[in-house]
Formats: sequence, structure tokens, C-alpha cells
Amino acid sequence: MVSAQTSKRRSESGSRPPDGDTAATKQPRRHSEAGFLFQNAQAASKHQDLDPMEKLKTGIIGTGKVGHLHATALTELPESEFTAVCNVNFKGAQAFAEQYRVKAYADVEDMVAGGVQAVTVCTPHPLHAGPTIKAARAGAHVIVEKPLASSLADCDAMIRAAKEARVKLAMISQRRLYAPVQRIKKAIEDHKLGQPILGTVNMLGWRDQAYYQSNAWRGTWLGEGGGVLVNQAPHQLDILQWFLGPIDQLFGCWANLNHPYIEVEDTAAAIIRFKNGALGNILVSNSLNPALYGKVAVHGSSGASVGVQTDGGAMFIAGMSNITEPPINDLWKIPGEEGLLESWQQEDTAFFQSIDPTRYYHQLQIQDFLQAILEDRDPMMPGEEGQKTVELFTAIYRSQRDNRVVPFPLVPETDRTDLDGRLTAASAESSVWSPAERRRM
Ligand SMILES: NC(=O)c1ccc[n+]([C@@H]2O[C@H](COP(=O)([O-])OP(=O)(O)OC[C@H]3O[C@@H](n4cnc5c(N)ncnc54)[C@H](O)[C@@H]3O)[C@@H](O)[C@H]2O)c1
Repeated sequence: MVSAQTSKRRSESGSRPPDGDTAATKQPRRHSEAGFLFQNAQAASKHQDLDPMEKLKTGIIGTGKVGHLHATALTELPESEFTAVCNVNFKGAQAFAEQYRVKAYADVEDMVAGGVQAVTVCTPHPLHAGPTIKAARAGAHVIVEKPLASSLADCDAMIRAAKEARVKLAMISQRRLYAPVQRIKKAIEDHKLGQPILGTVNMLGWRDQAYYQSNAWRGTWLGEGGGVLVNQAPHQLDILQWFLGPIDQLFGCWANLNHPYIEVEDTAAAIIRFKNGALGNILVSNSLNPALYGKVAVHGSSGASVGVQTDGGAMFIAGMSNITEPPINDLWKIPGEEGLLESWQQEDTAFFQSIDPTRYYHQLQIQDFLQAILEDRDPMMPGEEGQKTVELFTAIYRSQRDNRVVPFPLVPETDRTDLDGRLTAASAESSVWSPAERRRM
């Protein structure tokens, strides 16, 4: 499976990055609940001794901040032979390629034609679709950074292209792999809550001016695709709908409350009715300084409640900061299990200290994607699953634009060009800052 050309290139350049400080050098502590948790980590040994001929040749599209997490994963995983990177800014690709000793490309199709079989897409959100479709049509399997895209039309086009090309399409949503998140999913599946009847997301974080100025695309409708809903909250939105199931209808609103120097929303809220009759609410914001937390809680018909704090304190910004606080269950009121909370918190804290959490979960999920290709099965998070979060935030934008409850499922609006209301005059009015004040900033 490894072409002669690639073998030669690798033997000329070597295959290890110069950076010897790898997550793999730390030995993670084991969690007590074997089996359900970290199935992927256990499965890793299955592919540990892959013949180089059996490894997948891998590449990265978009060589910015999060690209380095992907590069580390693709360098370390036994299923991967990391061979190439691609960036429209070829100089950027070259500098990155040099660091990891792989080949640089400016064009996705050229990279895939060079032998790459699986790619990760790490470009800004409105630019997820183009490279994904090109890579799929050229024959490569694709895993895309979150969210799948910034519009439903892009999601449809990506999923269609992957299906037509018969390649796998997956999306990164690494917080699903957190032990406290998996515990809740399992408790729901084991009917320990009765039926889930209430779900809440509270993601109250902070992003400052330096963050928004770190790339020209940030804070702009066309460059970022949206604000807190599109960039920071997708993890918690994904987890909420993973726990409670398909949405029936939603009413939402959004605003820019304290970031006059950006176009996009820094805050959003929504009320949801799920198809199973459960109710939910969402409150997400980048406006709390210092950042507080990201939390998802579920309450059941039995009266039991469970919750996870996925993020605590200053939030992780790839390339700018690390994860500072362990994900923990902050609520566990299942009769007979209340006493587990403290020991789980200790266990999760010890586990967190035994790994590099910034890299560990990305690596697990990219590994699942590569194993899905090798085993010809669905990845843990297929494109269709990623589309659900895009549908959720699209509904919040449309709900505010039309001032109405939005029924699900949603379809792309082919007759409109206002990006679900993000580009209308109303979006400027959603800033509490007047245009004059904004200009003064
Ligand atoms: N899962 C997570 O926790 C997590 C964390 C951070 C970022 N992300 C996601 O990763 C993605 C990238 O974020 P980032 O912070 O690394 O951004 P970044 O600006 O640092 O990097 C983006 C890179 O894409 C390149 N690029 C732009 N258009 C391209 C194209 N058409 N083809 C190839 N390359 C192109 C840019 O030159 C740049 O190198 C976003 O989707 C973001 O939401 C996810």
C-alpha cells in the first residue's frame, strides 16, 4: 500500500518530528470502569504492530494552531504514516512540513494524488467544505475539525461528496471521550435516570481582543461563520443532543454583548423541545471574565440528576493555552450512587494529571477514525452526527431572524443569501454597541 515514491521520500526525510516531548511518553492511569470507557485506547493494541505496508498514509489540510495537535497524533499513532500537509499559503505549509519532516503542498488534489489516503481538515469553519469535498473526490477519507461546517448547505455537500466517493467522513468532537461524559451517556443508556426529561448547557467563557485579533478570520461572519455558537460551544451543543436525542423545535436568540470589536455573536440562548418530549435550555457566552465553566446536565423522569463540567476556569485555546482543569462529574444524584461522585472526581483528576489532556483526546478520536478506515466500519462521529450541531445553531440564528419557534429538521435555504440571518441588518442590531462606538474601538 505504500507507494515507492512515498517510501523513498520518508527514508530521505526520516519519520519523527524533532519534538521529543510526546503525549505517548506519559503512561495514562487506567480508569476503573473498563470496557465502556476508552474502548478506543484498548483497541489501540490491535494495530500496534501494523506492518508499515498496512499503515494509512496521512496528511493535514490547514497548518495553523490546531494542526499541531493533529500532526502530533498522526506522527505517534501506529495506524498512521504521516506524509504530507497542505495549505493555500504554501509558505505556511512548508514551515510546518519542515517541522514534522513531511511534504508540503498548496493543493489538496495534488496532495492526495501524492498517495495520501486519509486527511484531517484544520481550516477555518467556512473553509471546511471546499477542502473536504476536494479530498473526498480525489479518494481520501476525511476527518474535519469541529463544527462540521458553518452552514447546512456545506454539511450536505460534504456528506454527499463522501458518499459518492465511498470514503469515510468524520468530525472531531473529542469531549465526547471524556470519562465523565461517557459515564452520563452510559447512565442514560442503562435507564438509570428513567427517561431524560431536562437538559441544560451552560458554557460561560471568555475571549479577549487579543484572541480575536490573532487571525483575520476570527470575529467575522464570513471568515468564522459565526461566534460562540459556531466556534466555542459546538462541543457542549453536541453533547446535549447526544444525551437527549433528536430535537423537535427550538426558540433562540443571540447578541454581541461585550465585544464591540467583532461582528459575530458572543452570547446565545435557546429553549428546546426534544422529540422524546424532554425540554432543554442553552446559555453560551464568551463574555464572562474570568471564564467560569462549560457544563452539561441531564435530569430524568426518576428524579435523578447527573452532570459534567467539561471545562473549568480559563478555557483551552489551541496553540494559545492548555486545558487547566480536569473534566469532572459535578452532579450525580442517582439513588445508591451518590457516594461515587467524590471518588470519580479524584480518579478523573489523577487521570488528567497523568496525560497531556490537550493532545490525548484528539489523538484518541483521530485513532478511531483511522481504525474505522482499516476495519471498514463507521467512525465514532460520522459526518451526519456532526451535522446535528450545525442544525442546532442554524435554528438559533433563524429563530432570532424570524422571531419564531423553528421546527426540526431544517433544510438549507437555497433561496436566501443571508446565512440564516447572520448577514442581515438585524445582526448589526444584535450588537448592543452602536456603529459609532464600534468604529471608535
Ligand atoms: N477540537 C478543538 O478543541 C479545537 C480547538 C481549536 C480549533 N479547532 C478548530 O480547528 C479549526 C482551525 O482552527 P485554528 O485555530 O487551528 O485556526 P488557524 O487560523 O490557526 O489555522 C487555520 C489554517 O488553515 C489554513 N487555510 C485557510 N484556508 C485554507 C484552505 N482553503 N486550504 C488549506 N489551508 C487553509 C490557514 O492558512 C491556517 O494555516 C477550526 O475549525 C477550529 O474551530 C478545534
